[in-house]
Amino acid sequence: PLVNAKEMLTKAKAGHYAVGQFNINNLEWTKSILLTAQELNSPVILGVSEGAGKYMCGYKTVVGMVNGMLEELNITVPVALHLDHGSYEGAKACIKAGFSSIMFDGSHYPIEENIAKTKELVAACNILGLSLEAEVGSIGGEEDGVIGMGECADPKECKMVADLGVTMLAAGIGNIHGKYPANWKGLSFETLDAIQQLTGDMPLVLHGGTGIPADMIKKAISLGVSKINVNTECQLAFADATRKYVEAGKDLEGKGFDPRKLLAPGAEAIKATVKEKMELFGSVGKA
Ligand code: G3H
Ligand code: ZN
Repeated sequence: PLVNAKEMLTKAKAGHYAVGQFNINNLEWTKSILLTAQELNSPVILGVSEGAGKYMCGYKTVVGMVNGMLEELNITVPVALHLDHGSYEGAKACIKAGFSSIMFDGSHYPIEENIAKTKELVAACNILGLSLEAEVGSIGGEEDGVIGMGECADPKECKMVADLGVTMLAAGIGNIHGKYPANWKGLSFETLDAIQQLTGDMPLVLHGGTGIPADMIKKAISLGVSKINVNTECQLAFADATRKYVEAGKDLEGKGFDPRKLLAPGAEAIKATVKEKMELFGSVGKA
């Protein structure tokens, strides 16, 4: 069965490694991630954005698919099903649908409003034993054609939100969603250190895991990051492998057009990406 993210992240923080959150879009994504986690004996968090939830026909479909796979693929490692960057309404819907973990992203609200809404959701999640991730300070990335460079969160605001009783805290430290631009200045370890000093045992979350150099990932983990989100990198790997298959004309040979064959190289590429990240994050063998 699904578990919340509390225990796996508490262990990760204490053990100085991070659990990967890998976003899912469909059956192939979900299956590839779950099989890799099981093979490597690693805990894992499946992330679902509101857009991906809609794409997969709604949160109940997602819950049904994931629960079915846990049982029929004999997945025994800890798996959390987590709403990614949820709105207040999205959070409520996922709590109802059977998710085991929720992110409420109130970072675009004034801090008072972010706090008020986060507080309500802490109470709702506590009743059902779900974990809750909050966000302070915006995470950069492309929005309406403008690339934000990733603002750094105010450590004092992080402390205020951590004190609400959230399970884990995402804080902007110069990280960006999607590919990093060539002139990216890197993560602000100064900010991360200040946040960790003030928030103590709170597991910190690093978004925008795609393309962050390995040495920065390791340093971030050493400074209290215990959950790292990866999305774009799996998409790029899937697209690349699928393109190669089609460009080599393999879909035209025999039954190569069968989706079970056509989507297989992409699924393998996702597995390889997830494996590489789990090894880098140090979660292998930690289930
Ligand atoms: O919330 C999702 C992640 O932060 C994914 O970021 O697409 O840059 O890997 P990414
Ligand atoms: Zn994110």
